[in-house]
Amino acid sequence: MTQPNPPRHFLSLLDLSSIELRALLQRASELKRLQHSGEFYQPLQNRTLGMIFEKSSTRTRVSFEVGMTQLGGHALFLSPRDSQLGRGEPIEDSARVLSRMVDVVMIRTFAQETVERFAAHSQVPVINGLTDLLHPCQLLADMQTYFEHRDDIRGKTVTWVGDGNNMCHSYMEAAHLLDFRLHIACPAGYEPDADFIQRFGDHCQILHDPMAAAEDADLVVTDVWASMGQEEEQAKREQAFAGFQVNEVLMAQARPDALFMHCLPAHRGEEVTAAVIDRPDSVVWDEAENRLHAQKALLEFLLAR
Ligand code: CP
Ligand code: NVA
Repeated sequence: MTQPNPPRHFLSLLDLSSIELRALLQRASELKRLQHSGEFYQPLQNRTLGMIFEKSSTRTRVSFEVGMTQLGGHALFLSPRDSQLGRGEPIEDSARVLSRMVDVVMIRTFAQETVERFAAHSQVPVINGLTDLLHPCQLLADMQTYFEHRDDIRGKTVTWVGDGNNMCHSYMEAAHLLDFRLHIACPAGYEPDADFIQRFGDHCQILHDPMAAAEDADLVVTDVWASMGQEEEQAKREQAFAGFQVNEVLMAQARPDALFMHCLPAHRGEEVTAAVIDRPDSVVWDEAENRLHAQKALLEFLLAR
């Protein structure tokens, strides 16, 4: 299949228009129904996804690999430890070479600039599988989960509790695209990037009081206090985030039917209590499963057009 020149990439949620994002979320639920009813749908036969992981992963790796299998294609795992990427081969050369062989590339790395440089030299679509700045694939799954359990998120209130990190930035982009209000409760010094606050200020509000931020929320979301690459800051962050735990007292501030989400992996007793994440109606497991369906819809969107 020939690719448009230049190809469509998914480096940030903003690579989709609002209309495309809404259609993709709907398609994700359709693909989920197909999968659950046991039907085969294999539009990506003979297609290969190259997956570059410079950081650890469980969900992202498994969902992309299984997703490609279900769509009739194949996924290839590459780590810097056992490829030339780890021995200093320029990212531009890796992009030129890999994109002559595979049909789509997913990268999980540190700097957003790395995925952008790779994409600039790639003949095939590139997907951001998490950087220090963004985690757009997770937002596809989170939004699909909200739509499936509730309905349209437009006009709703979402409360982010914790670090102004990659997930928080992608939530800010989602608030802009899907038109919901985002209350961000973070300790002073751990706010999201100033550029994001400026660009998405009409949908996002920074608060330093998690209880006030959670008031009347339709969805409460949190993430680890120390992201991958920040392991040595764990002790310092545990102190800074001590008052920023999602527990039953905080959830009582939200609407009675509020959902709780977490991209996982979770640290019970730190950013969230077991009582919240493990409650019987917790949607975090659907949220994790939806990584598979949402990314299948994304792969189809990028490749099967
Ligand atoms: N949520 C998420 O991206 O999980 P992994 O780090 O396991 O891929
Ligand atoms: N903010 C976390 C997300 C993990 C899926 C990290 O970057 O480690």
